[in-house]
Amino acid sequence: MSTSTAAACPTGIASIGLHFPPLAMSVADLAPLRGEDPAKYTNGLGCGEMSLCAPGYGVVELAAEAARRAIRRWGGDRERIGLLAVGTETGVDMSRPLSAWVAERLGLAGAVRSYEVKHACYGGTLALRQAAEWRMSGAAQDRAALVVAADVALYEPGDPGEPTQGAGAVAMVVDEPEVAAIDPVSYAWSEPQFDFWRPVGESYPRVDGPLSLDCYRRAAENCFRALVGNGDPEAVLRELAAICFHVPFPKMVKKAVQRVGELFHWEAERIEAFFRDKVDPTMVWNRLCGNAYTASLWISVANALKGLAHGQRLAAFSYGSGFGAELLTLEAGPKAAAGEWAEDVERDVSGRRRLNARRYSLLRDREADKRLSA
Ligand code: CAA
Repeated sequence: MSTSTAAACPTGIASIGLHFPPLAMSVADLAPLRGEDPAKYTNGLGCGEMSLCAPGYGVVELAAEAARRAIRRWGGDRERIGLLAVGTETGVDMSRPLSAWVAERLGLAGAVRSYEVKHACYGGTLALRQAAEWRMSGAAQDRAALVVAADVALYEPGDPGEPTQGAGAVAMVVDEPEVAAIDPVSYAWSEPQFDFWRPVGESYPRVDGPLSLDCYRRAAENCFRALVGNGDPEAVLRELAAICFHVPFPKMVKKAVQRVGELFHWEAERIEAFFRDKVDPTMVWNRLCGNAYTASLWISVANALKGLAHGQRLAAFSYGSGFGAELLTLEAGPKAAAGEWAEDVERDVSGRRRLNARRYSLLRDREADKRLSA
């Protein structure tokens, strides 16, 4: 038994790895298949492309590849990894955690606390917070954590949510704050609701669309109110170089920003400028990926961190249906400026195959057959 005293250690994101699956389709190509105007999906919802998984390729492959990339980029001793937490809502088993599949693929075993975290799209953020707090508490004894947020978000063909679907994974090694320090204080808000849920045994989520929009906006309003506290909203938000949101679809984020602006009694032009300067640029990769549930916020954060100077700050708003939300603040570390993880997105996006409407329909039929025969 170790007798060393637990001591808090510098904590943050030491490396990032991302992975998008090998297929994609433009939402503009989906629209005619569903009898919709493409502008509804592109302008109305703000979507671009949906990442899709090929048969036999799923959340395990996404999570494991993102984790491999994060570990390689970190370059630390794998023996130092003492915690593996995977946030997901793409359950592959009701009992065995997704982290066990990831650990198998990576050859991680031994003195490692390994588990899965579920709270809809908020699960990845909870995994990251737990890993950070484990280090901050001193319990980690300076060991590192591997955190993965991975999901395959598929809606029933014809569901209004279909153009927002996507898939992807983000992995982060939590260790020294080389890429970003995570502030110990964060701002959580939760309310029990049925806005988006997937009953046991069902393949697709059930969604109360209008309620889900309202819950998301209310969560954002309460988290930002807590962040600003008694301070001057202008001063608090001015010092943030970027503000990232969970991105179910980009228009949702715009609606949330509108609500936050109203909270601070901003004029329409002020809200528009805030969205244009601090929020919209963070969603470039989300528009190439679609909603990747737990990974969505961290795809946006990874994009925003890339290129930030050491010491610049950003905020990250996490939302998970059910519902739970949390607003985190981070400070860019010395490796943020180089943003090496951008090469993951460039490689995956340039190498993936784009489906037309016919091939997409075949993919969905094949997946339905698989479900029926399961
Ligand atoms: N040209 C341009 N815009 C058009 C248009 C056209 N031809 N036709 C419609 N539009 C606009 C509409 O005016 C509307 O814009 P506003 O909201 O600014 O008014 C927008 O397109 C969407 O139109 P609808 O409201 O009619 O869309 P819908 O009912 O078909 O579906 C949705 C919208 C309910 C959000 C659907 O995408 C959905 O169910 N999504 C899943 C749930 C979801 O993502 N909720 C978000 C919060 S919950 C969460 O965050 C967890 C999570 O990840 C899922």
